[in-house]
Order: sequence, then structure tokens, then C-alpha cells
Amino acid sequence: MQRSLVVANWKMNGNKLVVSQLLNAIKNGVNKDVNQANKIAICPPSLFLELTQQELVDSNIFIGAQNAHPQNAGAFTGEIAFVMLKEFSCSYVIIGHSERREIFAESDIFIAEKFAAAQAHNLEPILCVGETQEQRESGQTESIVLGQIQAVINEVGIEAFAKAVIAYEPIWAIGTGLTASPEQAQEVHAAIRSFLTEMDQTVAENISIIYGGSVKASNAEALFKQSDIDGALVGGASLDVNEFLTICAAA
Ligand code: PGA
Repeated sequence: MQRSLVVANWKMNGNKLVVSQLLNAIKNGVNKDVNQANKIAICPPSLFLELTQQELVDSNIFIGAQNAHPQNAGAFTGEIAFVMLKEFSCSYVIIGHSERREIFAESDIFIAEKFAAAQAHNLEPILCVGETQEQRESGQTESIVLGQIQAVINEVGIEAFAKAVIAYEPIWAIGTGLTASPEQAQEVHAAIRSFLTEMDQTVAENISIIYGGSVKASNAEALFKQSDIDGALVGGASLDVNEFLTICAAA
């Protein structure tokens, strides 16, 4: 059985002072109030990974990155490599976030390459999948979500998911204040788990499938009560210490 996992995705927010303050407040709160069996990871903007590494050195909070490029080195102006992330004690990396798929036009193949490159450097990919409002309304939710997972399986094989996390993030719920109801989210999480079960039962039973999309203190508990929701990927609410700690405590 998977341990619950709550991941903070700070996106492109913060500055040195804010990052330090947030990390210290989260670190202190987690030590006091959160079941130590739960896993918590923070994904700051990459420029603040070194600061995050310093601030979290004496804590059991994991560090994650929001993105990286599949090549190890070369002429990729503006990019950073997965191998570089290891120097900053990263354990996780978010792959295929809908903002990367939509704003930066990342394809399924490119995302699969990133997934493989992350694992080649011992980083656990958090693969994000999710449908748009339009796709949900036209009944395509499952085919879109499972198709995004299949595209990665085609490249890396089902075994690779033994060391990965899947984040179901309906695009219509990200940063909008609209959350999928616990039942809506559970339905998709269960579909993902049964899809994986057909290929590898052990992988399906052990993988953490976390939910993202306007998770906040007020809805976290109801989401976590669902049998196939193993944690959360938290954007906006992870920048507010009290909100984030309440979510972590509910996991
Ligand atoms: P949100 O973002 O919690 O602000 O909706 C979630 C995400 O994009 O990972």
C-alpha cells in the first residue's frame, strides 16, 4: 500500500525571502502536526532549489523540481537537465503538467522522454494527466487520461511505473477554484488504477495516484477519504502555510 503524498507546486512564484519564510513555517508545522508516515514534497521554482536544499537539510520533507530537459547537457539555452537536479537533493520532478502541455506545447512523446530521463537519474516522475472542460462534457475524460498514460507506457513500459506517481489534474479545476467533487475524482482515479491493473497488478496496487486542481484546506479531507486518492498536488493553496499544513495533516 502506498503512503500518502502531498506535493506543493509553487509554480513561478516567490522570491528568496518568501521562499525562506514559507519553508521554515512549513518545516516547523510539519514536525508538530503532521503524521510522519505521510510524505511531503515541495517543488519551488528551480532557481530556489539550492535555498530549499539548505532550508530543508534537517527535515524529512522531500524536494522536487517542476520541470527539466531530457538531455544531460548541450545547446539548450534556458533549460536545465535532470542530472543537475540531483545536485540539489531532488527526489521528485513534475512531468507533463497541463501548463507545460498547453503553454509550452509539450507533446506526449517529449513528456515520455522526460519521464525516462528523470528515472535514469533516480528522480521519481510525477506524471500529470487530465482533461479539459470540453473533453469532460463530451464524455472523453477516461480516454484522454488513459491515453496520456498509455503514451508514456509505450515508451518506457509499465514496469517503469513502479517508481512513479500519477497526478490526476482536471484542467478545468486548476487554479479556477472549481474542484472535482470527491466522487468525480475517485471515478477517474479508480479508472486509472484498473487500467494499470490490467497490465501489472503490483504496480497498480503500489502506485500513488494523487489529485490536483484547487485542493484546499476545506476540501482536502473529503478528497482523501476516497479509496483511490492517495494524496494531492497542490498549487495555489501551497503558498499559504496554514492551508498547506491543513492539507498535509488531512492526508
Ligand atoms: P491549483 O494548481 O491547486 O492552484 O489548482 C494545481 C496544479 O496546477 O498542480
